[in-house]
Amino acid sequence: MRLLVGSFLLLLVLLASGAAAFTWYLRHAHAGVSARAQPTATEAALATAMRSAAIPAAVRNRTNPVPATPAALHEGMEHYADHCAVCHGNNGSGQTLLGAGMYPKPPDMRLQATQTKTDGELFGYIENGIRLSGMPAFSGAGGTEDESWKLVVFLRHLPQLSATEEQAMEHLNPKSPSELGEEKQEADFLNGGSH
Ligand code: HEC
Repeated sequence: MRLLVGSFLLLLVLLASGAAAFTWYLRHAHAGVSARAQPTATEAALATAMRSAAIPAAVRNRTNPVPATPAALHEGMEHYADHCAVCHGNNGSGQTLLGAGMYPKPPDMRLQATQTKTDGELFGYIENGIRLSGMPAFSGAGGTEDESWKLVVFLRHLPQLSATEEQAMEHLNPKSPSELGEEKQEADFLNGGSH
């Protein structure tokens, strides 16, 4: 009985000191729980390795069944501008208002770290999202697998994206009601309306 109470107390002490150490780490090494901080290199490497390992081999080894035709690329681009650019940016840099405030932050998908991942791994992230991050799963959002594969076609094109393509995408980005209102006012004005 005494042994049981003893081990229980020891466990409590261990748990409490673990929690204290973690809180200390967050506060001192990491600016509290703020999402603005940059993950440390160790933290980023660990998180990336863990989420890579979590993609089943059967998914990782899938190759893109959608051929990279101009039509598929265009559809992927449209879909990306509409659903992904808000966090990842039209050019894939991740330099967006939302991206900057996330932890982990959207990576620059033009770089090796993303481009060397298999088609299947990128597809898996799009379909299922990434836990404990802002990356949502899109498979439940009414999209088809083909749409996700077309997004992979577009992701592969990111390193070669031209300035003209980037500009075209700006017209495909979602607009807020106030932006739509302003556009309508401008159009009315240009059409000789009452403003
Ligand atoms: C609400 C913000 C948000 C949206 C919208 C979003 N993502 Fe992400 N995405 C993230 C974040 C944050 C990460 C990084 C997660 C991490 O590092 O664990 C990420 C990671 C990824 C990755 C993994 C990249 C790598 O190198 O590991 C891919 C691929 C990706 N997103 C594709 C997409 C696509 C395609 C869309 C649109 C269908 C999309 N994302 C929409 C926030 C978002």
